[in-house]
Amino acid sequence: MISGADIAVIGQRLARRTGPAPPAVWDLRIDGGEPGAEPSPSRLRHAKHQALMRAYQARYMLLPAAAGGVSILERLQRHYDPEEMASLEAHRAGLEQDLIAPQLAAAKRQAAGREVGPYAARLAAEVRAAPENPFTAFLRGTPNREHHYRNFLLQSSADLLAEASASALGVVGEFGAPQSALFRILIDEFGYGAHGRKHSVLYQAVMRDFGLPDEYNACWPWFDTAALELHNTIHYLFQNPRHFFLQVGFLLYAETAYQRSTQDHFGYLRQFHPRADTRYFGEHAHIDLHHTRMVVEEVAAPLVQAYGGEVGAEIVAGAELTRAAFDRAGAHLLAVSQAFEAAIAAGQALPAPPDLAAMGRPLTPAAALDIDAPDVRIQVGGLGVVTHAATFAAFPADAFGRTVEA
Ligand SMILES: [Fe+2]
Ligand SMILES: [Fe+2]
Repeated sequence: MISGADIAVIGQRLARRTGPAPPAVWDLRIDGGEPGAEPSPSRLRHAKHQALMRAYQARYMLLPAAAGGVSILERLQRHYDPEEMASLEAHRAGLEQDLIAPQLAAAKRQAAGREVGPYAARLAAEVRAAPENPFTAFLRGTPNREHHYRNFLLQSSADLLAEASASALGVVGEFGAPQSALFRILIDEFGYGAHGRKHSVLYQAVMRDFGLPDEYNACWPWFDTAALELHNTIHYLFQNPRHFFLQVGFLLYAETAYQRSTQDHFGYLRQFHPRADTRYFGEHAHIDLHHTRMVVEEVAAPLVQAYGGEVGAEIVAGAELTRAAFDRAGAHLLAVSQAFEAAIAAGQALPAPPDLAAMGRPLTPAAALDIDAPDVRIQVGGLGVVTHAATFAAFPADAFGRTVEA
């Protein structure tokens, strides 16, 4: 089990590797805390998720938009230093075991003996018949919707600003005809090589329209524990080749659910933010119909045909793990928005985008109880500032904030 002391050491090493004034894409810092000061369980869990995200991000090719007045080659060598990467990687299996494996075990129990064909058919019917997703339905009823939506975009950006980079890791290698179907889905995600149509580039446009930085990893200080858990669950699947069939289950669930949720977001944006760029959502509402069919017919079915029913159950387990992770993240996002809405109504919160220059100490709701400064200001994700520690203490446990330093 990784302790608070271990996380503090990991955090210090990542801060050294990051160096001063890092470009956002190469900022590896985490909220590891001080050596010797044992963090609260909720802060420790948050920092562990950050460390696991850093281990996963090290597998990506990332470049800043500009050299920023220093040698890009020197910074590149430093960011991808193999000894530093190996030292973090040594903790990865332990972090995965601690943070994600229990949810996988639960999904496997649920999926035991199930067949993927009927499962996929029922899932698609359910998704299409479902009412509007609760988050966009909530937004319709509040005048503060812009701020809630900004937080949604920010929390989702952990993955979407590098969309499909996780699943790309599951495509390299050599594994027959299903590999080529997965590759065709992947190249759609990358805009078929037209940079302006790459899904992450479309996502950047919405981020900008809501006043957020669009550089990958720029918003990491504001990711809450639920957003990190979703990110890490996806990477846990794709960064471990032993999870190949679970990866197919992820794609089955994600493509099916996305065709519907993006339609809700597309309609919502058109109605309430008519000047915002809707291409990201419009594109998915269309193309994920095809991706769903491809996963079912060209990947899952031939794999079950070739390898038998245990593979079908494993695919269902991957889908159920993904469903549970999406459901938790979605319910959490809505609960945090509702808590913030109540705080506004009580005169104890002000909507505002996060100010990266005024970034103070990290806080979970449980840790906020220990604060005795009466005039503390706590930025909660992309939502705004809560002006009473006791108010933030009543937020959902996986919310995350930072004091605002004047
Ligand atoms: Fe996509
Ligand atoms: Fe897709």
